[in-house]
Amino acid sequence: MKRVPDIESLLRESRVFKPPAAFMQPRAANWNRKTAREQQKLAAQSPERFWAKMAREHIHWFTPWRKVLDWKPPFAKWFVGARTNVSYNCLDRHVEGWRRNKAAILWEGEPGDTRTLTFGELHRQVCRFANVLKGLGVKRGDRVALYMPMIPELAIAMLACTRIGAPHSIVFGGFSAEALRERISDAGARVVVTADGGYRRGEAFPLKPTVDRACAGASGVESVVVVKRSGEPMPMRKGRDHWWHELMAEASSRCAPAKLDAEHPLFILYTSGTTGKPKGILHTTGGYLTHVTTTAKALFDLRDEDVYWCTADIGWITGHSYVIYGILANGTTTLMYEGAPTTPGPDRFWSIIERHGVSIFYTAPTAIRTFIRLGDEHPKRHDLTSLRLLGTVGEPINPEAWTWYHRVIGGRRCPIVDTWWQTETGGIMIAPLPAVTDTRPGSATHPFPGIDAAVLDDDGAPVAPPDGGFLAIRKPWPGMLRGIWGDRKRFRETYWSKWKGLYFTGDGAHQDKSGNFWIMGRIDDVMNVSGHRIGTMEVESALVSHRDVAEAAVVGRPDEVTGTAIVAFVTPRAGIAAGPALADALRAQVTRQIGAIARPRDIRFTDALPKTRSAKIMRRLLRDIAAGREAVGDTTTLEDYTVLAKLRGDED
Ligand code: PRX
Repeated sequence: MKRVPDIESLLRESRVFKPPAAFMQPRAANWNRKTAREQQKLAAQSPERFWAKMAREHIHWFTPWRKVLDWKPPFAKWFVGARTNVSYNCLDRHVEGWRRNKAAILWEGEPGDTRTLTFGELHRQVCRFANVLKGLGVKRGDRVALYMPMIPELAIAMLACTRIGAPHSIVFGGFSAEALRERISDAGARVVVTADGGYRRGEAFPLKPTVDRACAGASGVESVVVVKRSGEPMPMRKGRDHWWHELMAEASSRCAPAKLDAEHPLFILYTSGTTGKPKGILHTTGGYLTHVTTTAKALFDLRDEDVYWCTADIGWITGHSYVIYGILANGTTTLMYEGAPTTPGPDRFWSIIERHGVSIFYTAPTAIRTFIRLGDEHPKRHDLTSLRLLGTVGEPINPEAWTWYHRVIGGRRCPIVDTWWQTETGGIMIAPLPAVTDTRPGSATHPFPGIDAAVLDDDGAPVAPPDGGFLAIRKPWPGMLRGIWGDRKRFRETYWSKWKGLYFTGDGAHQDKSGNFWIMGRIDDVMNVSGHRIGTMEVESALVSHRDVAEAAVVGRPDEVTGTAIVAFVTPRAGIAAGPALADALRAQVTRQIGAIARPRDIRFTDALPKTRSAKIMRRLLRDIAAGREAVGDTTTLEDYTVLAKLRGDED
């Protein structure tokens, strides 16, 4: 694989930041030099023995396992025969001890309302809602779709699902009715939990009407439970729709946790791939919980006195693993914020940190770049000295953003834990240990113990540093996806067909001479916009479903704030006038079919798309044009040379 120019600039980044002195004291961190060395040694000898040790130390098991791992590539079973329950681990074991009255969730709504749920209170509410679900006929194994704003009821609903063994499928509240319908049908959900609306950028946005539209086309939904949040008047369909507060008032606060097999399905989470249809990534119970709980404890150095805040929406994997499960399983207080980062003012995040005494802060590079643009005066107006550790996730962080984060937010005293992972990996795979690892701005540094990450070439042979290649995981790990819901063939083909028995991440990467990993981003047709994955095919199929469009090709171009901006090249049907009106209509079409996150930034109209003689669209050329670079490389297979020249000049 050729090296791309971005990587050359990353390669020049040679600054090294040692772990801060406060973390280096022998007993200062959960994983200090000595413990880390021991874990690394054990993991190097036997990943299975290492994960078994972690599983014993971090998780309560009702029944122990007979075997740590059963690996028949690409199908893994971890902790075979063991029984556990995720909500028991996140709640009951804390409630049985001194943490009963400790804050589990500190919640802040966008309008400024706040709620605190102790572990005891959260436990009662979860039991109640588990009984509500049972009352609606939800049985072990039945799927429940959650389409909700960032309110405590979302955490309650997901933990209630885990309590009775009903896998949840959370759909981000920004997705459209069509996207929701597709996900509800694919998962075969019988119950949908939603809210009348939520708050974002100073306004209430409706959710329940979207659920109504989605259900109109999705058969099989028997009940819709609606949380009253925005207070907008809502039509309720008799027999199907129920108010959350009415059902909860009737439900008992006692519900024994189901003793579930370690491989019982925990949740499905849809993510974009290289085809038009999103993939339902399946995670299971015991291995996932072990992975997220262990990594959260070690990498975020969670302690009982911490207030931990991850800004991700629970609709994404980061929210599942590191707003809720990995954090509550450790008995740590997790902060949830409902709204936008800049409402009512550009200092909302810093005000939250100051008022709640946040000590660990985990966010995305795209947010950091937005804050840099807004100006240093906003964080500087607030006391951020409660912070002791910072994290990032979702995309490569550019060294400038890293150093700003370190200096302005972290006051030069906080380690930055840059975490590489994916929806599919369940938990963090590559990241620095805050008391141990020297960090380099822009690098996620080293794999977590027990994770065998490598940079490989097309044949699966390791690439010598510092050359680039494909990022692969060579051994199974406990949080790994167990499949794509209902599609074993696609599971094999997407992740396990490039090399036999090795997991293909879809990312390009290289290692430096010290073994640090530098992630180059996606090498397939998946874009990373503000840390969210969007498939080019999904956007293309939304565009071509418009009656005025003959053909469309979608690529990403680099963007200073969002990492990638979506650019669509569109050929209108004969006789259709291309122009701003059509461009607006197409943006609206994509918003309707997928959601606003997938709306193209630029739409360029063209008479034809550049194609090879075998009729494949030459995306590499389009990417160059979209980025304003001269098209380079081999164009001899281009079907029509004139297309290129026309594309360059023709912007809407
Ligand atoms: O390309 C990598 C990028 O995000 C992809 C995974 O996206 P998703 O499944 O939505 O999960 C995002 C949150 C875990 C990866 O294939 N990515 C994620 N974290 C990093 C990253 N790229 C570079 N550095 C990271 N720390």
